[in-house]
Amino acid sequence: MAQSNKGSIPRSFIEDLLARSDIVQVINQRVPLKKAGATYKACCPFHSEKTPSFNVNPQKQFYHCFGCGASGDALKFLMEYDGLSFVEAVEQLASMSGMEVPREKLSPTQQAEQKKTKDLYDVTFAVAKYYRSQLRSHAQSEQAKAYLKDRGLTSEIAKEFVIGYAPDGWDNLMSGLHADETLKSQLIETGMLVQKDNGRVYDRFRNRIMFPIRDGRGRVIAFGGRIINPEDQPKYLNSPETSIFHKTYTLYGLYEMRQSRQSFNHVLVVEGYMDVVALAQFGIRNAVATLGTAITVEHLDILFRQVDDVVFCFDGDEAGKKAAWKALELALPLLTDTRTVKFLFLDQGEDPDSTVRKEGVEGFQKRVARGMSVSEFLFNGLQSKLSMPISTIEGQQQLISVSKPYIAQAQGAMPDLLTKVLSERVDLPVWRLGQIMGLRIASTQKFNERKSTEPISLKAKSIILQMFAVLFKRPSWAGVFDAEFLELLGGSENAEYRFFARALVMLKENGYLLEPWETWFSDPKRMKVLEQIRAIPLDNDDAFLQSLHEQIAMQITYDLTSETALKKTVSTNTEDMGALEAWFELQKSIKK
Ligand code: UTP
Ligand code: MN
Repeated sequence: MAQSNKGSIPRSFIEDLLARSDIVQVINQRVPLKKAGATYKACCPFHSEKTPSFNVNPQKQFYHCFGCGASGDALKFLMEYDGLSFVEAVEQLASMSGMEVPREKLSPTQQAEQKKTKDLYDVTFAVAKYYRSQLRSHAQSEQAKAYLKDRGLTSEIAKEFVIGYAPDGWDNLMSGLHADETLKSQLIETGMLVQKDNGRVYDRFRNRIMFPIRDGRGRVIAFGGRIINPEDQPKYLNSPETSIFHKTYTLYGLYEMRQSRQSFNHVLVVEGYMDVVALAQFGIRNAVATLGTAITVEHLDILFRQVDDVVFCFDGDEAGKKAAWKALELALPLLTDTRTVKFLFLDQGEDPDSTVRKEGVEGFQKRVARGMSVSEFLFNGLQSKLSMPISTIEGQQQLISVSKPYIAQAQGAMPDLLTKVLSERVDLPVWRLGQIMGLRIASTQKFNERKSTEPISLKAKSIILQMFAVLFKRPSWAGVFDAEFLELLGGSENAEYRFFARALVMLKENGYLLEPWETWFSDPKRMKVLEQIRAIPLDNDDAFLQSLHEQIAMQITYDLTSETALKKTVSTNTEDMGALEAWFELQKSIKK
């Protein structure tokens, strides 16, 4: 088990925390709720809709959206809405309820580590404050101020992004912060000071406009610095990777975007600090930037936790196209039926900053709306690499063969949709293309893979068993489980859920008729399950069955969504692994 450097959070505390906090209050602070009978309603913050299908249940301390299936408890909401990791959500909820998060006993080394990290955040914060004060009062800050003004930034926006000024000179930080030896080594560790071979130190950032980079919780973790004097080099200088700054996980502007407290249906990914700030100046608050690196899977995971649609904004030149192609390749396997990405190519030599200044918000937003879809960009890109024109049979054959690996990576309904677009380009019917490429819908593939002759039985009190019992009385109610749900079920970590997925597919394929389903269950290896189902006594009362069906469906939906949310969190935040395991344990114990 990976060690969390903060020590893991005791389970009993999490139970206590959930018991003591009120989900209605938590959500209402972020999404205004309306009372509707025993529950509360709102338009769902996780997908765009006009009529409210997002429900909050104060008795169960649970939210559920009947439109997009989002569901969970207060912690889950904070994770999804504020984009926090599990531990961050616990800390946030605890501070709202005035509770202190206890940590299971840390080893002395762990304690020292924890203190050290905390101190580093204090140091970067102090540096940001120092640069900010220098912008306001340093004798030579006039040029910096004039520069910002010239670029159209108001002091409000500069304040919001904590933009500062690193004065010229080699030892401003040491003297400005009255640094002792400890602080000096911390300044080195955070990359603010550079240490020479002879041990002497100097300021990394000199005569630059300073952009503090903040993490999801608003802690300053690094800086980007822009030259003021056009002769200086390089134009932008970033903090090096440190123990608190990892470029692959960090997006500039993410914290500020969340702070704007607006709800967005898409996020714009741009290339530069100034693009983010300039767009914000124009009221476009949903832009983030990578930090002089290409977009990573980790970035995409973070973004897809916030919104379903990501719009990549690139320069119209060759480098921009190349970066866009890389983004496409990364995003394709992450796309589901609800998630999309779009590609926006700006005119040659322009960036979002210059474009929004020239064309205004409306012009810029028009470009965003006209962005290229995945299929358009994918097939245009592939088509441009063919050695024969697409009007020839050879060209069409080539396009089919180069498209296949891309289509095969997509999830949910995407392969079908892409195949449809391809079919128009090569003038073949979809079913024929599917045959040629040997692609089948991902969900059916997954269920067929797991063939085994082992007799299957389910846990005695399994909710799946109960659901089967309900469905044997009301088979048509299986219709509520749609393709996306089946996809999630089929890919679940939980073997019972995978079995449930297969059984549902069987039932659907047989038009929700009971007889063929029973025959399928009567197979020797599934006989045991059938017996288990028959052993469950259930009243044949519609209202009772309905409520049982609803409850179990909700529970499964919650399990599946937290499973996927956790997968994402695990991949983006290894630091919190210990706590995540506690969370898994807790989920298990709640189910019992
Ligand atoms: P650009 O050079 O396109 O910056 O670099 P920009 O945002 O348009 O800058 P302005 O408008 O001239 O102020 C885009 C991003 O690439 C990284 C930075 O993260 C920058 O924001 N970059 C660029 C560097 O890291 N170093 C450089 O020397 C230049
Ligand atoms: Mn620019």
